[in-house]
Amino acid sequence: MKKERRLVTAALPYVNNIPHLGNIVGSHLPADIFARYCRLNKYDTIFIGGTDEHGTPIEVAAIKNNTTPQKLADFYYKKHKEIYDWFNFSYDNFSRTSKEIHHKTTQEFLKKVYANGYIKKGELEIPYCKNCNIYLADRYIEGICPVCSYQNARGDQCEKCGKILDPIDLHKPRCVICNKDNIIFRKVKHLFLDLTKLSKRLEKWINTNKVWRQQVKSIALAWIKEGLKPRCITRNLKWGIKVPFKGYEELVYYVWAEAAIGYISSTKEWNKNKWEDYWKGKNSKIYHFIGKDNIPFHTILFPAELIAHGGYNLPYNVVGLQYLNYEGGKFSKSKQHGVFFF
Ligand code: MF3
Ligand code: ZN
Repeated sequence: MKKERRLVTAALPYVNNIPHLGNIVGSHLPADIFARYCRLNKYDTIFIGGTDEHGTPIEVAAIKNNTTPQKLADFYYKKHKEIYDWFNFSYDNFSRTSKEIHHKTTQEFLKKVYANGYIKKGELEIPYCKNCNIYLADRYIEGICPVCSYQNARGDQCEKCGKILDPIDLHKPRCVICNKDNIIFRKVKHLFLDLTKLSKRLEKWINTNKVWRQQVKSIALAWIKEGLKPRCITRNLKWGIKVPFKGYEELVYYVWAEAAIGYISSTKEWNKNKWEDYWKGKNSKIYHFIGKDNIPFHTILFPAELIAHGGYNLPYNVVGLQYLNYEGGKFSKSKQHGVFFF
């Protein structure tokens, strides 16, 4: 009898620092154990992963350290790879989202989503630093909180009073990179994934899953209940995957809109003839192993993209794992609390 196929993934780690034991325990290790178990039981199994390399934190770190995002990503990719090899994780392929194959896969994937009518056009007002000549993500602008007058409120939230903010609400906004207040707000065209249109189908799918952990299901359903709004899938950055639409050439895709597509690119890179059997075959099941902070992206955003594209299987299980604690507290790199490899 021919047993089913199983595609096992571990969350693609972000390469702006060196992994600690918490990262390992939170996804690679359980995914590896499960993949080995499946192989032993003669399931046709592949274990797929890679690194997540785009986004604002890397672009900003490169500016601050006077280097390029590519150099920074190369440096951390190597560190990550060495550690996972040292643990002898049985990846069938470990890729990188900065590779050409991922850029092409993402561009084609989202073109299809657009053609299917699930991407809308819109406009946003984005803060721009005239000194650094870059657009600033919400948390890279600071100013005076309009609610409690705290001096160092971030553009996305005031730490002091907890209020969720919009950067345009801050008084005397300044750039976190150069500390100057040469900020202007510019109207920019952006693209939005129409999650509202996908909400019913997502909800139905989430409710029919029988193997999900209760916590994962509750988090996903809470998002649906809140009401899904169209979500911006583009950013004003240089480092990332170019948006191949006329009038949008200055944008890259939002890192969370493309990173999970990296699972697909990595499978393609593993075998360009067989990858579809695992992603589209009737007899195939997909298992994502992730830390719990990644749950909304793997139960809402990525499945929404898969539905909007059409033709793909949706994950059979999204295994959301708890954080590893160390002597009663959360692992923290900045506080040097935990077990680190370097
Ligand atoms: N880079 C993310 C993190 O480290 C995980 C991304 S998983 C992906 O938390 F599927 F989106 F790639
Ligand atoms: Zn600046």
